[in-house]
Amino acid sequence: MAPTQDALYRELDLDLDLSWSERDLPERVRTKHVHRLHPYLGKFVPQLVEALLARHLPRARRVLDPFAGSGTTLVQALEDGLDATGADVAAFNCLLMEVKTRRYNLFTLERELRDVLGRLETFDGEPPGGPSAYVREWYAPRATAELLFFRSLVEDYEHADVMRVVLARAARSARRTTHFDLDFPRTPQLEEYWCHKHRRTCRPIDRAGHFLRRYALDTLARIREFSRVRGRDAVAGVIHGDVRELEVGEGFDGVVTSPPYPGLIDYHEQHRYAYELLGLEDRRELELGAAAGGTSAAAIAAYADGMVAAFENVRAALTPRARVVIVINDRRDLYPEILERAGLAVETRYRRHVNRRTGRRAGEFFEDIIVAR
Ligand SMILES: C[S@@+](CC[C@H](N)C(=O)[O-])C[C@H]1O[C@@H](n2cnc3c(N)ncnc32)[C@H](O)[C@@H]1O
Repeated sequence: MAPTQDALYRELDLDLDLSWSERDLPERVRTKHVHRLHPYLGKFVPQLVEALLARHLPRARRVLDPFAGSGTTLVQALEDGLDATGADVAAFNCLLMEVKTRRYNLFTLERELRDVLGRLETFDGEPPGGPSAYVREWYAPRATAELLFFRSLVEDYEHADVMRVVLARAARSARRTTHFDLDFPRTPQLEEYWCHKHRRTCRPIDRAGHFLRRYALDTLARIREFSRVRGRDAVAGVIHGDVRELEVGEGFDGVVTSPPYPGLIDYHEQHRYAYELLGLEDRRELELGAAAGGTSAAAIAAYADGMVAAFENVRAALTPRARVVIVINDRRDLYPEILERAGLAVETRYRRHVNRRTGRRAGEFFEDIIVAR
């Protein structure tokens, strides 16, 4: 008799409680409240952080995520009533985390967002200032004008950062790209095309105003929803920089993190439009394991050295009994040695199936969960 699917998973040492299917954990739930303020490739699901905090860090009060990305750990920690600090080398990620985790006077925030949208309505089509070469290439003239006009307004408001995230999200959607290639489009799409996502002929976007309006209101609703569920006194801190040498603070009694892995994602490049439009500082040369660096033996060795330095620095910020929980698809089995060199002892290691569907398929994706002290 063929083994059941669950028996196969047990054989692979899979933790079924953390291997949710699409039906168990639909996108709407994975991207609840502020988790969806802006798309981010390579984030983990908040329910995983919630389960890992409960399972491995039940007594933690202050948690650290040294590779905090879009801030999933921070947001979930706040929801659980814990203080949290996140570090990241990418300026846009830090902006996004700040906006997700700040406390707002919701009345002021709403007034400001409605005011800026009112001013957008009055826009007469003349772009303020000249667009950069990137903007000229990737946006149609009307979309360019609307984005640059909105950008010229945000400085007038207390909640300019919230508007910057709205601007970035609208800029992502308004690029001249196909609907099915929003993550890393290579060249602008100027003509109509057959769209695999919508199964019809689509045209590249030529406006941005409707995205600005829709995302401003969506952002307001999401921040409002989060304000109802976050812990009353819990606070978050965001630190921008290279975690190998950052002062991350001290007294953390837990870490939940998913470090970058060699050759997979360029974290600055995925938000290139935001760096271009918001004038953010680009520190991509400090990204550990950036896809652009490749996967040569030298690149892997440099990655391992970088991770050792990062975790040594993190270790110095921990209380003696703190646990470090790492989520990573360590297909090269680099982490036992990295953690040992960084002075951390592995307590346990198991796997989860990402996006488990019915039936086993080629190209399935697993993640390891490594718990160290
Ligand atoms: C897998 S992502 C983390 C995603 C995060 N768990 C989330 O849910 O959004 C890894 C992050 O590490 C950051 N990173 C890469 N090199 C870094 C470095 N030297 N110092 C700090 N952060 C770095 C990247 O910018 C990226 O945001």
